[in-house]
Amino acid sequence: MKILILPDPAAATATCVALIVESLIENPKAVLGLATGGTMEPVYAGLLKRARAGDVLLDRMTSFNLDEYVGLPPEHPQSYHSFMRERLFAPLGLDPARTHLPRGDAEDPAAEAARYDAAITQAGGIDLQLLGIGGNGHIGFNEPSSSLASPTRVKTLTCATREANARFFGPDEAVPRFAITMGIATILRSRHAVLLATGAAKAAAVATMAEGPLSARCPASALQLHPKATIVLDAEAAADLELRQYYETVHPQGQEVTLG
Ligand code: F6R
Repeated sequence: MKILILPDPAAATATCVALIVESLIENPKAVLGLATGGTMEPVYAGLLKRARAGDVLLDRMTSFNLDEYVGLPPEHPQSYHSFMRERLFAPLGLDPARTHLPRGDAEDPAAEAARYDAAITQAGGIDLQLLGIGGNGHIGFNEPSSSLASPTRVKTLTCATREANARFFGPDEAVPRFAITMGIATILRSRHAVLLATGAAKAAAVATMAEGPLSARCPASALQLHPKATIVLDAEAAADLELRQYYETVHPQGQEVTLG
């Protein structure tokens, strides 16, 4: 695990955007795994800015999002389809045939999950998987107790996750109880996993992920098994790391140091 600690959320976000841009410059046809949630909003704003500045082209990439709420059709304002369409896909005029999310309104959500997993494999697998982390250690919607060998499937959301995500829904709207999510095994197959966490509310989950035992109690700890995982943090999200000083020695200010 490469742990990069940046001074503030803006710097951490810019580092995360830079990793995505680098990956697309290296391979404009890269397959990206995308995430939603509050942490990702400034990431997509930053990516949009870099694309509009002509630093990077996104029209040849393919994307697969991590998850979608069961029961929400793509046009539902709180669906992750809408989140992505509004923040990235529509402003860049991306071809919908290249930007994939699980269909929350599929008649058979379990079959949709299996189809989605197979579609990722068929696209050649994910080159760069973007991840956020839940306060309870979830990645995607792999809630605590998720099998670390899980494929894409339907998961029941915890009360904590539904409460955390209630902020995106209206006061009289219920947060869906189920989601289709890429599994932990699916995420671990990505060639590079980039997890971004900002803010004090993520500090405990980040420390358990990086320094706790490998355990289904903290699904993000499965990233300890990933051959190339980059964890991008701001100072607040890094606050509970016991080995923080070591990470800051290896990557001062979250920067690469050339050897020799
Ligand atoms: C969303 C997703 C989730 C979020 C996580 C953090 O696609 O997969 O794992 O990344 O719940 O959400 P925020 O950033 O809203 O705290």
